[in-house]
Amino acid sequence: MKVLVTGGCGFIGSNFIYYMLRTYNDIVITNLDKLTYAGNLENLERAHKDYGPRLTFVKGDILDSKLVSEVMAQKFDVVINFAAESHVDRSIEDSSEFLKTNILGTRTLLEAFRRSGGLFIQISTDEVYGSLGHEGKFTECCPLAPNSPYAASKAAADLLVQAYAHTFNLPVIITRCSNNYGPYQFPEKLIPLMISNAIEGKRLPVYGDGRNVRDWIFVDDHVCAIDLIMRSGKPGQVYNIGGDCEKRNLDLLHELLAEMECQLNLPPQHFHHLITFIADRPGHDLRYAMDFSILAKELNWRPKYSFEEGLKATVAWYIENKSWWTRIKSGEYIHYYDRMYKHRLACV
Ligand code: NAD
Ligand code: DAU
Repeated sequence: MKVLVTGGCGFIGSNFIYYMLRTYNDIVITNLDKLTYAGNLENLERAHKDYGPRLTFVKGDILDSKLVSEVMAQKFDVVINFAAESHVDRSIEDSSEFLKTNILGTRTLLEAFRRSGGLFIQISTDEVYGSLGHEGKFTECCPLAPNSPYAASKAAADLLVQAYAHTFNLPVIITRCSNNYGPYQFPEKLIPLMISNAIEGKRLPVYGDGRNVRDWIFVDDHVCAIDLIMRSGKPGQVYNIGGDCEKRNLDLLHELLAEMECQLNLPPQHFHHLITFIADRPGHDLRYAMDFSILAKELNWRPKYSFEEGLKATVAWYIENKSWWTRIKSGEYIHYYDRMYKHRLACV
């Protein structure tokens, strides 16, 4: 099977590549990635070493139609689009790259895909549905009601994918997953940010009152669902994917710090003085929760990892791989982060 992955040097893309290469001997993957601030070739160093010619890297932008057409001329069985600007806070500061990559980049891929064939999988997100109140879950029939520029750009991409499928009769599948966590997640997202800040003795910034709820899924469960969908999913279908694991941010943080204290042999509450409430994210969605019963019924998928297991593995990975995130945090990223954090702290 020949697979084209876009955005494979990011968090979920790199976990997907490792999963596929170690699970199947007959798969070859081409990874097209622009290497933005969030893309890191180091993430796939071991994959290139261990799997050699089964993994090819092409550095490039999904907006570059000439390059995308040349790559897709190699004819892939499946094209999986992970490439995106993915951080909500950044989209609030400046949405321009989000609209370019997430919408126009998806269009470029669809144009080339029209000529090359195969199956197209768009990796979307639960955020396209907007926010839930205290009850209920998102189903695939919920209307799209995105609230952040990031979510709006992902919803626009979903609509484009569906419009191309309808107009040009293309086999496409859209997946919408909830909040992932695990190895190689960029330390601007909640869990790796809190782990790395705590180790560095920095403040742990909780937005608003910390009562916002997310539905957490360990990244291996997400990539396993994508694999099943790629092999046996129905073209034309949208599949919700979720962790069945709703947690308020503050509760999650307490569990995370307790796990860190345990793994680092520190006394209980060691990190608690670092918890700092800062101004809320503008337009902050209250709650996400996914109903993934279509995926469960059709493909017999359920998350395998409990939150405790996933969290243990994730904390251990960030403790062992301090040099990975220290390098990232000392680069351009830290300027963006410091600016955003100081601004929010000043607003309290
Ligand atoms: P990430 O930010 O870690 O990685 C994004 C990758 O895309 C990077 O390697 C980056 O270099 C690449 N990229 C960005 N712009 C590009 C461009 N123009 N051309 C080529 N490559 C480009 O993101 P992630 O968390 O791994 O998310 C991957 C996908 O999954 C995204 O589409 C995101 O919307 C979706 N998603 C993420 C989550 C989550 O919790 N992280 C949940 C549901 C869905
Ligand atoms: O739900 C899926 C989405 O999950 C993906 O589509 C996005 O790409 C991904 O970034 C993620 O979006 P969130 O905004 O939910 O994730 P984030 O890690 O930024 O924030 C999780 C929650 O934690 C959210 O309620 C905001 C809060 N938060 C986040 C940060 C970074 C804090 O309280 N403090 C923080 O410093």
